[in-house]
Amino acid sequence: MIKTSRDDPNLYSEDQTEQIRKRKKEGIDIPLKEQVQGKENSTLFEEILYLHNALPEVDYDQIDITTTFLNKKFSAPLIIDSMTGGTDEALLINKRLGQVAEKFGLGMGLGSQRAGLRSDKLVESYSVARRVAPNAFLIANIGGAQLAEGLSKEDVKRIIKMIDANALAIHLNPLQELIQPEGEPRFSGISNKISDIVKEIDIPIIVKEVGSGISPQVAIQLQQVGVKSINVAGSGGTSWAGIEKIRADNVNNYIKSNLGELFWDWGIPTALSIILVSRVVKIPIIASGGIRNGLEIAKSLSLGAHMCAMAYPFLRAAAESDSALEDFTQLVLAQLKGTMFLVGALNLVEMRNTRYILKDKLASILNGYELSRRS
Ligand SMILES: Cc1cc2nc3c(=O)[nH]c(=O)nc-3n(C[C@H](O)[C@H](O)[C@H](O)COP(=O)(O)O)c2cc1C
Repeated sequence: MIKTSRDDPNLYSEDQTEQIRKRKKEGIDIPLKEQVQGKENSTLFEEILYLHNALPEVDYDQIDITTTFLNKKFSAPLIIDSMTGGTDEALLINKRLGQVAEKFGLGMGLGSQRAGLRSDKLVESYSVARRVAPNAFLIANIGGAQLAEGLSKEDVKRIIKMIDANALAIHLNPLQELIQPEGEPRFSGISNKISDIVKEIDIPIIVKEVGSGISPQVAIQLQQVGVKSINVAGSGGTSWAGIEKIRADNVNNYIKSNLGELFWDWGIPTALSIILVSRVVKIPIIASGGIRNGLEIAKSLSLGAHMCAMAYPFLRAAAESDSALEDFTQLVLAQLKGTMFLVGALNLVEMRNTRYILKDKLASILNGYELSRRS
């Protein structure tokens, strides 16, 4: 039986559930219908160059892209990044994404699950993923802002149980909270909260950004509190400042709209974030933020990532059809294997060890970073 707010004061009223549905629907519709990718800023993957290997000594069919991450075998180093839940559209999208994760042996993150805690009606839009993907590595999701606000350990356990999750991702999204008209830009005490969750929860905790990147200093702090993996989700891909700016325009919120425009490209470009973070931590890094093809997956691995994740490209394909999603997944894996063939890498260890050249812009940014640390 579905409980309502009359049975339990922790649950949303009908009106609140409707508002959440509307917000979640906008969170899918805006990236699909409007241009909300990075504008001036890029991921900087274009700054990485491989030397072509004309003598690869590899047969394409022998190339092995399997890997192990957090003690689970994956058929490819790829995760469908955390996106959605909480609406009827999300139910269909999560069903399709779950099916593809299961079929191709990928990981999959769910969108922020707070809505599922407060309204039983919305649970199915998340739990559908586990129903269609009994064996896939599924990642539960909750916001750092909600943790800082005091989300209980029991609630976190319910979120995990909702999808029988293999790991829990805590997303850090200060930029989004700043621009969002109904945002909660309050993160005081967040490190201690993450530390508590790491101690209290018995599945691995991943901390992720949502498109502004992770700095080396933050990565060190996260490793220190016992986080098992970091998803850098850098800038150059989906811009949450951009999405929230459009939502702010829709409610005539001049200040938020202006902030959204100003900070549209704010963040650490993904390639830079991977390089800097991988220098300072030992825990595995997930590369995400503007990764759009298998060549960029290969580059992420060479830069120091263990896994890669993509959000927007999977959303676009999933919103189209089951077959568009399967075609896209197959294409990305072929692009990764194609890159490995052309550099002569037989497996992902060899791909990670493949030498690359940094072009001017990224080399000079890294140089500038070193100089500023010494001064
Ligand atoms: C429609 C959409 C919804 C998202 N919702 C969430 C979310 O609920 N929780 C989260 O951790 N990240 C969320 N993200 C962020 C992604 O997981 C990812 O970090 C970010 O979009 C960068 O990847 P991309 O450039 O490939 O889209 C969302 C992204 C998109 C496109």
